[in-house]
Amino acid sequence: MKAVLIHRRTDGATLALGDVPEPELGHGQVRISVRAVSVNYADRVVPQGGYGTPPADGAAWVAGLDGAGEVTEVGDGVSGVQVGDRVMAMVPGSLAEQVVADARFTVPVPPAWSDEEGAAGIVGLLTGCSAFTAAGGLRAGEGVVVTGATSGMGLQAVQLARHLGAGRIIAVARSDRADDVLHRLGADLVLHSSGPGFAERVLDATGGTGADVAVDHVGGCYFPDLVAAAAVNGRIVNVGRAAGAEATADLEAFSLKQLTLRGVTFRTRTPAELAALYQQVRNLDLTQLRPVIARVVPWTQTEEAQASPSTGTAVGKVVIRVGAE
Ligand SMILES: NC(=O)c1ccc[n+]([C@@H]2O[C@H](COP(=O)([O-])OP(=O)(O)OC[C@H]3O[C@@H](n4cnc5c(N)ncnc54)[C@H](OP(=O)(O)O)[C@@H]3O)[C@@H](O)[C@H]2O)c1
Repeated sequence: MKAVLIHRRTDGATLALGDVPEPELGHGQVRISVRAVSVNYADRVVPQGGYGTPPADGAAWVAGLDGAGEVTEVGDGVSGVQVGDRVMAMVPGSLAEQVVADARFTVPVPPAWSDEEGAAGIVGLLTGCSAFTAAGGLRAGEGVVVTGATSGMGLQAVQLARHLGAGRIIAVARSDRADDVLHRLGADLVLHSSGPGFAERVLDATGGTGADVAVDHVGGCYFPDLVAAAAVNGRIVNVGRAAGAEATADLEAFSLKQLTLRGVTFRTRTPAELAALYQQVRNLDLTQLRPVIARVVPWTQTEEAQASPSTGTAVGKVVIRVGAE
């Protein structure tokens, strides 16, 4: 079958269409005929060996971290998923004509959604659910801050926070390019900051109280502001570290406000934890949570799309259409 392969070289990596054997279907798995795959921040890290280990023999491997398509075969022990179902999943090696996934780690694509929307939605839904519920403990009416709000994850986090009944939602972004979309998705206020210094504005906007839950996609130099902008008993959830993995914290403020810092990742979750998270996403009313797509490109343009997902003024996820044009 055809797939987009990552070829690692000493001076970087290149991506190109190639041929690989069809994946074998295991117990509890479904075979998906992939129609669309989205571009994630992590796609830029994978060719460098991030998020898993590249094949030791230097062989090329299949790109893609998520996708949506139609189930064409179900393995032994699968219940609740049938041939012909449209599903979305977070699954490595998805930029291929077929991929196999654990049936528990799939979500039906809502009938009103396109395959592209399914591909664009799944990672943000899983990430947002994990950040706001288990990690952030968001309760109805609580105030929220979302940093990196222009990112695919950020846009969905704002939308999900509104859906989950958050109170005042403050989005923090480096530019104003997504302001209209962020307001439409549920942000009450969009602050612009490309570095430290937004805490004061969060405190002003919350009458000095601060935010109950911060979902942070930026890390690094933003972190001190998240501590300064937090309410008493606030929860700061680190999702991404686009501005760096190291940060300083005012531990005096941290203790005084009785703050909680949580990190979230999929990489160290048990299968049972992952299955519970997928179930949580299945339980959402997804008709209210349609993802935002900036553009759709053919899979022959994967390398370019993954290298510069947010070029131009378009806001939302970049989606790669899988298969012949
Ligand atoms: N923990 C998890 O389970 C999990 C799951 C998914 C994603 N993530 C993380 O979440 C983050 C967002 O992922 P994504 O796929 O949605 O990314 P994306 O769409 O590629 O967007 C990247 C975002 O990072 C912002 N950014 C980059 N460098 C920055 C800096 N120095 N200061 C402030 N903002 C900066 C960009 O702002 P501009 O728009 O202004 O360029 C953009 O909003 C990534 O860090 C990713 O690793 C974590």
